[in-house]
Amino acid sequence: GASVEVDISALKPGEKITVEWRGKPVWVVRRTPEQLEALKALSAEMADPDSVRTAYPTPEYARNTPRSIKPEYLVVIGICTHLGCSPSDKFQAGPQPSLPDDWKGGFLCPCHGSTFDLAGRVFKNKPAPDNLEVPPHMYLSDTSILIG
Ligand code: FES
Repeated sequence: GASVEVDISALKPGEKITVEWRGKPVWVVRRTPEQLEALKALSAEMADPDSVRTAYPTPEYARNTPRSIKPEYLVVIGICTHLGCSPSDKFQAGPQPSLPDDWKGGFLCPCHGSTFDLAGRVFKNKPAPDNLEVPPHMYLSDTSILIG
């Protein structure tokens, strides 16, 4: 399928944009320094903190804690790896319905309650079998990403 070029020049820290690639929603999230810092402490709560599972293989360049080429930017397919629902943004930290009290920000799948951190890593003991899928991508410049 065709590749898609994404202009990220207007994306501010803490914001997300969605583009379509091969009929699927691809999210680009620009993480704040605080959000990035929180990811390290969350690794112990993740089912696959280093992204080595192969149901939705993570490209080698994203097999790291922030799951990204440039730590600030997350690029993932916005489809739950369980049964394909669309997870909701739960970027705000702190207690909220259906989320742990020490929530640090991430995504919640409304269908069966899988939770993901802001690297798209699935928490332990959730129905989703893998982290959110990282599509193949590369940087064309500081402000442009090519998906696919
Ligand atoms: Fe997301 Fe089941 S489809 S938890």
